[in-house]
Amino acid sequence: MAVFKFSVISIFPELFEPFCKVGVFGRGISNGLLGLDTINPREFTTDNYHSVDDEPFGGGSGMVFTPLPLYKAIQKSKKSTPGPVIFLTPAGKTLTHARVVSLSKLDGMTLLCGRYEGIDQRIVDLFVDEEISIGDYVLSGGEAAALVLMDAIARQRKGVVKESESVENDSFFDGLLDHPHYTRPAEFNKRKVPDVLLSGDHGKIAKWRMKMKLVETLTKRPDLLNKASLTPEQEKMLADIREELRVMGDG
Ligand code: 6GU
Repeated sequence: MAVFKFSVISIFPELFEPFCKVGVFGRGISNGLLGLDTINPREFTTDNYHSVDDEPFGGGSGMVFTPLPLYKAIQKSKKSTPGPVIFLTPAGKTLTHARVVSLSKLDGMTLLCGRYEGIDQRIVDLFVDEEISIGDYVLSGGEAAALVLMDAIARQRKGVVKESESVENDSFFDGLLDHPHYTRPAEFNKRKVPDVLLSGDHGKIAKWRMKMKLVETLTKRPDLLNKASLTPEQEKMLADIREELRVMGDG
């Protein structure tokens, strides 16, 4: 299977090391399904302080990431890494499962992590292909967002997630939230595991899980139901659940 190559441009490359050693992402790296290079823009500075920030033209608070080290880092990255240059910024388009799936079909990407108040706009205008945000809140830099994007993309690559952990059961795979999960003990703090899961009836269990996915989605994220394309069986189940909830509400 082909490798997906991540190249991360960050002044804190050490943040990415532990992530490469553990879990699904770590295994993907060891198996050669994922590749990760980090490039520190400080490498390309010439002053004694290796400074990569400067005061904003026009005044104001905070500092701005200076363009030359970022330019050199991007050029270096492009030599080793295919795919677009993605800038992580709260001004980007909010990441969705659909965008993750389409990005996962590429061979790689360069992830540009900003710090300070922002990066010089000419870097964005000249070299950035896409701006991505991970939600409507502000982080101190793009690194945490880059890790989120890398993890989500890695999961979609064939072979990275084991068959037994199957991505097909994840929340969002079919536009719905996942069903609840239970393991031993069968009773915990006086709470029993639903009987159906102990019944050994696989048809019944599959049906219960499908129903619970619909219940979870309807009660926690009803907005998702407008976008999910449900099978006729799911539509029928959903109508029954709505009726059940209505009756319970009346009672
Ligand atoms: Cl991608 N970067 C930063 N700095 N803050 C964010 C973000 C990204 N996404 C949400 N908030």
